[in-house]
Amino acid sequence: MDLFEYQARDLFAKHGVPVLAGEVIDTPEAAREATERLGGKSVVKAQVKVGGRGKAGGVKLAATPDEAVARATDILGMDIKGHTVHKVMIAETAPEIAEEYYVSYLLDRTNRTFLAMASVQGGVEIEVVAEENPDALAKVPVDANEGVSIEKAREIVAQAKFPAEVAEQVAEILVTLWDTFIKEDALLVEVNPLAKVADGRVIALDGKVSLDENAEFRQPEHEALIDHAAANPLEAAAKAKNLNYVKLDGEVGIIGNGAGLVMSTLDVVAYAGENHGGVKPANFLDIGGGASAAVMANGLEIILGDPDVKSVFVNVFGGITACDEVANGIVQALQLLADKGEEVTKPLVVRLDGNNAELGRRILSDANHPLVQRVDTMDGAADKAAELAAAK
Ligand SMILES: Nc1ncnc2c1ncn2[C@@H]1O[C@H](COP(=O)(O)OP(=O)(O)OP(=O)(O)O)[C@@H](O)[C@H]1O
Ligand SMILES: [Mg+2]
Repeated sequence: MDLFEYQARDLFAKHGVPVLAGEVIDTPEAAREATERLGGKSVVKAQVKVGGRGKAGGVKLAATPDEAVARATDILGMDIKGHTVHKVMIAETAPEIAEEYYVSYLLDRTNRTFLAMASVQGGVEIEVVAEENPDALAKVPVDANEGVSIEKAREIVAQAKFPAEVAEQVAEILVTLWDTFIKEDALLVEVNPLAKVADGRVIALDGKVSLDENAEFRQPEHEALIDHAAANPLEAAAKAKNLNYVKLDGEVGIIGNGAGLVMSTLDVVAYAGENHGGVKPANFLDIGGGASAAVMANGLEIILGDPDVKSVFVNVFGGITACDEVANGIVQALQLLADKGEEVTKPLVVRLDGNNAELGRRILSDANHPLVQRVDTMDGAADKAAELAAAK
């Protein structure tokens, strides 16, 4: 789960990373009082979960409370790379910035370790530094058991060649940032820029944090950080039903059992779609191993409720999940939806193979639902589903 800058700022403050005062607001008028509380001037910052806000005009200085209202008016509602700005942070203005650095910790999956990254060339996109001037970005592996002590932090600082006058301050910040990373179960903590300001202090002026959702059972406070407003309503409904569902852009609804099978189903449908006007998968939905009729019903309800979906492809390879269970699930789900008065008008293409496939196919044939078609090969079924979606 990615956080907004203001939420990252709060976590930094909690663990002792130096930050400036700031409060988040969602109406222009609230910018006035917030700016007054900061002594009459502020920085108005768009809160969207995407980089490059500054360049897009989403970070503006305000020299007076009136100006803050004007800037907040400009920025609220602005579109930044497809993200609408619903909130802005009114931040304390940093003293004049002398230098901008970069520091981060992240999980380095490839090398099965944590990684510290640091550069004295911060403030700009770090991908650009990594590309154009790789020597300017220090990368130091961090052992999960040892973590970042002050000695380790000094090693990172030395490798990144921080100037002597800020070295110890940055090392101390690296220790507090490590605390944030570990104690909050984050996958990424990034400060860009970490600024050296006129009075000599080093301060985190922008923060990016991504939390590990697998740790939510031991992080009850993280629940409050979820941005419910932004969640896709279908994804939220699927989550409430414990389904592994991801909304995509296309027209063919997909249900399968097992993440691997569903992933390859997406590929096969996208490929088949090229022959049918470019239709694409509308979602990822894995009903998992051993899925019952009820789970199938839940899955179908989510997918049929997606207005973008024109046809549905149910692709099941029976292993632990028996195909007769799945077939019964489909029949019951359609009945359930009919009983609820939700008229199903979208065609379903079903491919059943593996455990109890014959029985499952017979159940579908016997039910003889006008919208359900059986196709017994994966490629054939994908082609049929794409064709039906294109015809709608
Ligand atoms: N509180 C502040 N006081 C003074 N200047 C600031 C403050 N916050 C940010 N700035 C300046 O604005 C620049 C852009 O701010 P920031 O890094 O938060 O946004 P961004 O980098 O454009 O967005 P993103 O990190 O999402 O790409 C900073 O590099 C810094 O120079
Ligand atoms: Mg930034």
